[in-house]
This record gives sequence, C-alpha cells and structure tokens, in this order.
Amino acid sequence: MSEKTEDEEIERIISGKPKTEDTTLDTSLRPRCFDDFTGQEKVKENLRIAIAAAKGRGEALDHVLLYGPPGLGKTTLAYIIAAEMGVNLRITSGPAVERSGDLAAILTNLHRHDVLFIDEIHRLNRAVEEVLYPAMEDFGLDIVIGKGAGARSLRLTLPDFTLIGATTRFALLSPPLRDRFGAVYRLDFYEESAIKTILKRSTAILQVKAEGEGLSEIARRARGTPRVANRLLKRVRDYAQVMADGIATQAVAVEALSKLEVDHIGLDEIDHKVLRTIIEKFNGGPVGLDTIAASISEEADTIMDVYEPYLLQLGFLERTPRGRLATPLAYAHLGLPYNKKPPQGTLL
Ligand SMILES: Nc1ncnc2c1ncn2[C@@H]1O[C@H](COP(=O)(O)OP(=O)(O)O)[C@@H](O)[C@H]1O
Ligand SMILES: [Mg+2]
Repeated sequence: MSEKTEDEEIERIISGKPKTEDTTLDTSLRPRCFDDFTGQEKVKENLRIAIAAAKGRGEALDHVLLYGPPGLGKTTLAYIIAAEMGVNLRITSGPAVERSGDLAAILTNLHRHDVLFIDEIHRLNRAVEEVLYPAMEDFGLDIVIGKGAGARSLRLTLPDFTLIGATTRFALLSPPLRDRFGAVYRLDFYEESAIKTILKRSTAILQVKAEGEGLSEIARRARGTPRVANRLLKRVRDYAQVMADGIATQAVAVEALSKLEVDHIGLDEIDHKVLRTIIEKFNGGPVGLDTIAASISEEADTIMDVYEPYLLQLGFLERTPRGRLATPLAYAHLGLPYNKKPPQGTLL
C-alpha cells in the first residue's frame, strides 16, 4: 500500500488520523509535560511511577507499547516520556523502516537511555521485527559478516534504550513482539469534560475567543478525540472570524459544525453511511466489515481504525463472530424504527 492512498483516505474532518494541515497544529498544541496532558489518568500515573523508578535506579525505562485509535495521544506521550526521562527521542514508523539494515543503523546511533519511538509498529516487516527481538531483550544486535559458507555472525552490544511502540491495531502485533514490552497501555476515548479542558488550553495557545458553551458544543462533537477537537476548534474559529464577530459562541459552533456535516454527537457522513448500509441493505447485520466497506466504497482499514471504534464506543455497533450488528441505539439515532427479528435459529 502506498502512502498516497493513505493520505487520501485521511482527509476527513472527524478522522483521528493526522491530516496534512495538522502537522503544525499538532506541534503547537502538543502538551510537553504530564501536567498539560489531560485525561488518561491511569496511564499517566503508571508512567509517572515507572519513570521515577527507572530514574532512581539510573536505568532506561522499560519498553512501552501504546495502543488505541488515532488522535488520542500516543505520539504525545512518547514525547513526554522522553522529556521526563531527560533523554533524546528518535522517531520512526513501521512502514519507514524497510530493511533490517535501516533499523540496525538507527539502533547503533542511539545513546544510553534514549527513547526510540516506532509509530504504526504493527506494520514492521518480519525481517526487521526479528532484529528488534534481541535488541529489546538483551540490547544485542546480531550482524552477519561475509556471505555463504564463510559467513559468521557477530553480536554487538547496543546502549540500553527504551522502545516505545504505538499502534492502532493491537491484534495485528505478533505475539513475540507484544511479549517483549514491559508495559502495555491502552488509550481510551476521552470524557467530554477532559476534551473541554483540552480545548480551553488550545484556545489560550491559539488565542481564540470562545465562550464556554461554544467549547462544550465542540467537545460534544469531537468523538472523545483530542486531535479531532483541536481540528474542529480551528474550523469554528475560522467560521467565527468570517461569519460572526470572531467569538466562538455555541450558536457559531453549531452552525460551523453543521456545515461540515458533523452531527450533534460527532458523526459524519461516512458514519451515517456505515450505519445505514448495515441497517437498510443488510437488515441490521451481522455483516462483514469488508462487505460494508465495499458497498460504501471506503477502505476497510479506514473504517476499522477511524469509524468503527467510536461507533462501538457509542454502543451503535456490536462486533459478533459473524460480522457487525447495528444496535437499537443506532436505529434510534438515524430515526429509523427497530423492527429486526431475531436471526433464524436463535434460541429464545
Ligand atoms: N491528553 C491530551 N491532552 C491535550 N492534548 C492532547 C492530548 N492527547 C492528544 N492531544 C492533542 O491531540 C494531538 C494528537 O495527538 P497524538 O499524540 O499525535 O495522537 P496519536 O499519536 O495517538 O494519533 C496532539 O498534537 C495534541 O495536540
Ligand atoms: Mg501518532
């Protein structure tokens, strides 16, 4: 899969995946320390303790795996961890590391206790992954010198380092890789109140004039996702500037977000299409994700990463062994009557 198709997929306002315009937004708004990182209290607390303990012992922090839907703060946490440890952060991603030699070069350039962040770690290829195993376990790097019968293997010792892996797809990670992380944290969608706190911080940084009710309206539609919240804030700011007198009131937020076809709970046109397809074409399901994707001409991966997690969280979708099922809540949200009969063969 080329990067281009991925970029094309992600140009949607409610997608938690970074869009091109987010690069600067992410950087200016990205919290640099735990105190500015709102929410995910358990993860923060565990990390704080682990960092203090590692520092106290003068060791590198254990390898950390962060997983969860896009836009919830995985990359941000990697920055914060490195900053709190007082070490350098080296960033790469699964698709960027093509050959095992690429990874070897990165590893040998690390300094003691540095953090290596590998985003989308589930997309590392097998050969590269195998270099990672001894590196994570024993800080060892096996290199082969020569070819054929004369080839011999040599083990280099790497500096103690911390690997932080991030993924949206925990299930796609190979078990041997998963097992080599000392700590695994799942990031959840944020509470509306936490999103509002994040928005307040963003308005201060971006110098947006906003009323509390305006921010609440944005928070309600942000799918529990900080990246989406910041993106919506920016759109509301633009709208306020051009169409109103520069202040993001609730009315301005409602108008701006309705124009973007983001409904009052943050669902957009694709969410609606997904739900309607399941309900109208497949009698509420169960129906396979690939079938849904094909009938609305979207990538199955995008639906799985961006749309499905939030619909599951809302209780609009259920995952069953035979596919996705729309719940009565989904029918209600679309204003459709729920008259689904139990599937044949169901014992009541
Ligand atoms: N807990 C948080 N508090 C404040 N802002 C956050 C938080 N988590 C994420 N953000 C904001 O959302 C943006 C996207 O977060 P990021 O860490 O890149 O998400 P991920 O790597 O999980 O896709 C960040 O630049 C930051 O502005
Ligand atoms: Mg990220």
